[in-house]
Amino acid sequence: MKRSVTIILAAALAAISGWSIAQQVAGVQTLRGADTAAADQAPDQKAYAGKKPGLQKPIERTFKEQPPLVPHATDNFDEITVTENQCMDCHSLEKYREKKAPKLGDSHLAFSADGMKKVVTMDRYQCNSCHVPQVDAKPLVDNTFVGNIPPKQ
Ligand code: HEC
Ligand code: HEC
Repeated sequence: MKRSVTIILAAALAAISGWSIAQQVAGVQTLRGADTAAADQAPDQKAYAGKKPGLQKPIERTFKEQPPLVPHATDNFDEITVTENQCMDCHSLEKYREKKAPKLGDSHLAFSADGMKKVVTMDRYQCNSCHVPQVDAKPLVDNTFVGNIPPKQ
């Protein structure tokens, strides 16, 4: 029963498209354009568009509540561990003035357990899961994204 339904469907499809079933099968291609057994070609590794922190302007946000994009390169300091978070060396409440860096978002802070100071909340600790540095690369797929922030007058 199932098989006959499949055959009828395939025949109907062939009739609609004007292609024979054989032609349709022959036209099937892999999306990555390579034989299934071939190893994937790794894309070129590109350098970040920004240089070291302190030399860039912020990148304009394109939608409300967007995590701002990281305008500087993050080579050498993007490894965030339990004991070390170098983003905080510049963006924390204690350091941002001295490092002339933007202060991390107020929404990222909560009172410490003893209520004596403000600390970064753990759901905001892994900075680079939301804030990403940029490379000048062709988009992988076309898209029709438009932001929702009106241009400055
Ligand atoms: C050595 C200091 C330093 C370190 C380390 C650093 N930053 Fe920055 N960051 C800056 C400065 C300064 C700016 C201002 C733009 C510029 O000059 O590049 C900035 C800008 C930013 C911005 C843009 C903010 C906005 O309002 O547009 C984000 C987001 C950011 N950094 C995230 C990060 C993350 C995530 C890390 C860790 C991977 C990090 N930064 C590590 C100094 C630093
Ligand atoms: C869960 C996503 C998320 C994580 C994780 C996160 N951020 Fe953000 N960040 C945001 C969003 C969204 C905004 C913009 C709105 C806001 O302030 O909440 C922002 C804003 C900022 C700003 C600009 C603040 C301003 O007032 O314009 C800085 C700087 C920043 N974050 C740094 C950091 C650093 C450093 C860390 C890691 C300790 C971090 N963020 C972790 C989502 C995140």
